[in-house]
Amino acid sequence: MDPVKVGILGLGTVGGGTVNVLQRNAEEIARRAGRGIVVTHAAARDLNKPRICSTDGIIITADPKEVVEDPEIAIVIELIGGDTLARDLVMRAIENGKHVVTANKALIAKHGNEIFAAAQAKGVIVAFEAAVAGGIPIIKAIREGLAGNQIEWLAGIINGTGNFILTEMRDKGRDFDDVLKEAQELGYAEADPEFDVEGIDAAHKLTILASIAFGIPLQFEKAFTEGITKITREDVTYAEELGYRIKHLGITRRTDKGIELRVHPTLIPERRLIANVDGVMNAVLVQGDAVGPTLYYGAGAGAEPTASAVVADVVDVVRVLTSDPENRVPHLAFQPDSLSDLPILKMEDVETAYYLRMQVKDEPGVLANVTRILGDKGISIEAIIQKEPQGGSAEASVIMLTHTVLEKQMNEAIQQIESLDTISGEVTRIRMESLEAS
Ligand code: HSE
Repeated sequence: MDPVKVGILGLGTVGGGTVNVLQRNAEEIARRAGRGIVVTHAAARDLNKPRICSTDGIIITADPKEVVEDPEIAIVIELIGGDTLARDLVMRAIENGKHVVTANKALIAKHGNEIFAAAQAKGVIVAFEAAVAGGIPIIKAIREGLAGNQIEWLAGIINGTGNFILTEMRDKGRDFDDVLKEAQELGYAEADPEFDVEGIDAAHKLTILASIAFGIPLQFEKAFTEGITKITREDVTYAEELGYRIKHLGITRRTDKGIELRVHPTLIPERRLIANVDGVMNAVLVQGDAVGPTLYYGAGAGAEPTASAVVADVVDVVRVLTSDPENRVPHLAFQPDSLSDLPILKMEDVETAYYLRMQVKDEPGVLANVTRILGDKGISIEAIIQKEPQGGSAEASVIMLTHTVLEKQMNEAIQQIESLDTISGEVTRIRMESLEAS
């Protein structure tokens, strides 16, 4: 049988890695797929840029439309990123009857509903394993490996740059900006690093995970997102003293009222395996009703780890090229006509525990006022420590851990605490999750 012809849009880090993996492992990949797979065409913005891969035998063009219009190409791999040109190219490829493999999380999170509907109508596949957690086969694990379960919740470290920053702050006492610069030099950070540190990149990935976990349409615009820019060395140290690590987690959970969909810094007990996932590594903890907790760990970015996921998708597509479109694994794990309309909860309707840090005047009655406000809102304190004033200051730091409470109650309590004239500045609030198997 003739090899399947593939066109790649984007020959940068992941594109180059994909060509390398497809060429280096061609024989084994063909044995797995049942046919050879060759990259015949590629589009690159700058034709003269040095590449990490050999381009022998590949026709390279600066115009990506040439690739999606080429009748010889059966599979288009989209690796240019962004959600404008990429969207147009993917929609056009689908229109032309081509299967698509993409690593583009923003594209899927924001336009996936439309893209999958078009693909379904045309009988083609859009595969996106590489869009979430790089080389970790988390899409396949949830969509296929856990298909017998009701997924209860999942929590993931799904942005390597943010995890690298928090790890270096904790281990080496380094400053935020300094570590971010290094992550950019390592090639992990997004073109706009705000996507990493403000949790937007993680929210793209979490949106996708929530859809395949719970069978709901993609709803990126409803994700709650809080970044790590306000995390200080002090918070990292106090969390450790209390037996916790701060991680930037994406959390999605099915509750009776709806689906939680949130990305924020989170204290988690240091004894959890996921609390010990450091540096640029990613991990996703999934709680299924039958299997219990399962943990998936690996490189969340980088040329060949991401290529590993891209190539696996290409192999999947080649394996089912001749199968009836009705009998394929559905894009979002659940049959398109069986998606649920469970609402995404507003953050104020989410219940979680909290770490609070505040600067208080070191005088009698101050703590009593704070605990009264918390008590009036039904917020129960689990632990409390007070740090003596430093360097002649008249203010002490008070750190509290609370039991679980509705975020709305906590918002109101914080507002009242901040209005006390014995409290200076804002109260630092970091949400806290036990991540216990239920
Ligand atoms: N900027 C992302 C990260 C790259 O740091 O994890 C992979 O999506």
